[in-house]
Amino acid sequence: MTPHHFTSSPVEALSGDICVPGDKSISHRAIMFGAIAQGTTTINGFLDGEDCMATLRAFQAMGVPIAGPVAQRVVIQGVGKHGLQKPKTVIDCGNSGTTMRLLTGLMAAQAFDSELTGDASLLKRPMERVSRPLMLMGAEVATCEGRPPISIRGGQTLQGISYEMPEASAQVKSCLLLAGLYAQGETRVIEPGLTRDHTERMLTTFSYPIQKMDNALIVNAGSECRGTDIVVPGDISSAAFFMVAATLIPGSNVFIRNVGINPTRTGIIQILKLMGASISIHNKRLCGEELVADLHVLHAPLEGIEIPVALVPLAIDEFPVLFVAAACAQGQTLLHGAKELRCKESDRIGAMADGLQILGIDAQALDDGIFINGGSLQGGVVNSRHDHRIAMAFAIAGAIAETPVKILDCANVATSFPAFVKTANKLHMAIQEIDE
Ligand code: S3P
Repeated sequence: MTPHHFTSSPVEALSGDICVPGDKSISHRAIMFGAIAQGTTTINGFLDGEDCMATLRAFQAMGVPIAGPVAQRVVIQGVGKHGLQKPKTVIDCGNSGTTMRLLTGLMAAQAFDSELTGDASLLKRPMERVSRPLMLMGAEVATCEGRPPISIRGGQTLQGISYEMPEASAQVKSCLLLAGLYAQGETRVIEPGLTRDHTERMLTTFSYPIQKMDNALIVNAGSECRGTDIVVPGDISSAAFFMVAATLIPGSNVFIRNVGINPTRTGIIQILKLMGASISIHNKRLCGEELVADLHVLHAPLEGIEIPVALVPLAIDEFPVLFVAAACAQGQTLLHGAKELRCKESDRIGAMADGLQILGIDAQALDDGIFINGGSLQGGVVNSRHDHRIAMAFAIAGAIAETPVKILDCANVATSFPAFVKTANKLHMAIQEIDE
């Protein structure tokens, strides 16, 4: 692949009205539940980035007729819970942890064997968090010392378990709920803290019973998913980049329309507001089981804060760009309780601390977080470590820095936000793409 870099130059006020692409978590789940549902499912607003396309292709490989995406519309002829066929080849999950972890739960319950692999980044990510509880359910799931590729022996009878998750992870929760749709007896997943609840909401959308009792979620095998129509809201994780950019750049005035504001995802808004941001929420409405709104962001000076630990899982994917906000805030920002950031698409604590230091900011990586002393961002060359969110976060840094920021290896931006540069430049950012 030709290396693909960005150069992001300083700009004056951002203004305009944008939409961001469909939510990644919801797009993955819409394909998965649509595939195992009885009847037709239509998805509008599907995110056609590489990650969700990996999920879509996986189900096509298992014999599910899926048309599209054409103009973000996908139509799935569901094959029912027991209608998936053995894929002819290894399933390639690309860069997508969600594809791999959720599929592992589903594949563990099938009659056939399967194997899941991914790109260099995914091959480094921890998978024992899903293989361990699945094996407690009676699944046969083998990893390579806790990492992918994953080999799954089909034909096992799964037993429901009650499982207290050691980490607050929506992927682990969703993996076990998917396996629980096939297990004998009740599957109960207990969360140590609130994490995104799109799987639970989507089960309801597909008319599949799920119970919630305090912090436990309970499913049984006795039902079927029924095909439905889904409209995917805009991804708040993609909107986050422009929330931070508009907040930081003096004179900015930006509307971001049709953004999912599920309360398990709005940590970014809460944290930015604690720092002093001006973000107002308009036209709040329901889109199926998900809350959606338009966001209005005005420039505001920020102050450093100690980030409340309870908000960490609710903003888990937004920390790279939040660290850029902290770098431009007055005073110090401290984050603890975010060790999970070290095992995302890259070690996001290390990647951001290194890059911010290159740009002249006093940023210190901590074992489970970061310390950032706000200052003045300088230009420079930073490494995205092939991580889409690190690349986009530093592109926002370039818009506010003294001189341009060059960000290396940005091809993976296409995993979650293929139109990022176009959308940014529509708001008068100045990002150039370079292939060399
Ligand atoms: C996701 C859950 C989160 C998040 C990831 C998407 C999901 O991961 O970081 O980008 O769709 O369930 P964890 O479950 O590992 O926290």
